[in-house]
Amino acid sequence: MTTSTAVSAGRVEETASAKINLALHVTGRREDGYHLLDTLVTFAEDGDELSFEAAAADSLAISGRFGPLLSGNNAGEADNLIIRARDLLRATLDDTGQYHGPVAITLEKNLPVASGIGGGSADAAATLRGLMRLWGSELPSATLMHIALKLGADVPMCLSSVPLRARGIGEELQPVDLPGYPMVLLNPLKPVSTPEIFRRLDKRDNAAIDGLPAEADETAWLAAMRGLRNDLQGPAAALEPEIAEACDLLRQSEAEVFRMSGSGATCFGLYKTEAAALKAALALSAFRPNWYVLLTRSVAGA
Ligand code: C5P
Repeated sequence: MTTSTAVSAGRVEETASAKINLALHVTGRREDGYHLLDTLVTFAEDGDELSFEAAAADSLAISGRFGPLLSGNNAGEADNLIIRARDLLRATLDDTGQYHGPVAITLEKNLPVASGIGGGSADAAATLRGLMRLWGSELPSATLMHIALKLGADVPMCLSSVPLRARGIGEELQPVDLPGYPMVLLNPLKPVSTPEIFRRLDKRDNAAIDGLPAEADETAWLAAMRGLRNDLQGPAAALEPEIAEACDLLRQSEAEVFRMSGSGATCFGLYKTEAAALKAALALSAFRPNWYVLLTRSVAGA
């Protein structure tokens, strides 16, 4: 497990790692309107930071670079999902007669919101993990997955935060032996609406992902990923042209693989060496000082 965690005397910490869709193929649509996906996912070593501490009353305190965007009426974002995760878990624990006392939660919101890297979903998953540790809860993994899926299609994959292939709407998970890579995230800081991007798709029965390597061979995986795509990238770039520019800047920075994640606007570049990623991150920060640029690493598979 790569998700970093720590415990000390009634206080638990969790990192909500940024989720990166290295490829995302839209393969169909369910009767309820949700889209069937085939997506290759990894996680960054960096993300939002959460803490959970036993307290006299429930609370949620938000800080961090993107914290101010979550206060007020920004429902549907991390603050809301954290509270929904806490309350759904509590209801399940109540049904099984388990402890679920009041808790003070803090969120350091480091990831841009509504940006295709699962910030809200990762926060919800980190809340489930953190509270179960704080309260010493025991639930069958199927029950936990059920709660996660109720919170959002991307929450189950964020529970483990390991490289995986996800199908269905995100509930069929299969870990993959994907190596870790130096990675740069680039976002023009234009929030995009996920439902709007899905609505703008003109083809919903695209081919599934094919031919992923069975072993953690760095070069073979890079070659395989180059041949994949994100079917949401066209509609997203049509809505927000800076997404196309971000991908083009990553191409110019000599990323081995570059693409948009999720429904955007965050784009990622994978590099062969730390030096190449550092050089790219410095050049991109200088060229687009008002954009979000993160130099990080993707986690390695089991
Ligand atoms: O699950 P989540 O709340 O992140 O999804 C946001 C919206 O994106 C959904 O309400 C739906 O309109 C769209 N969506 C979809 N198919 C998916 C995931 C999301 O159509 N697999």
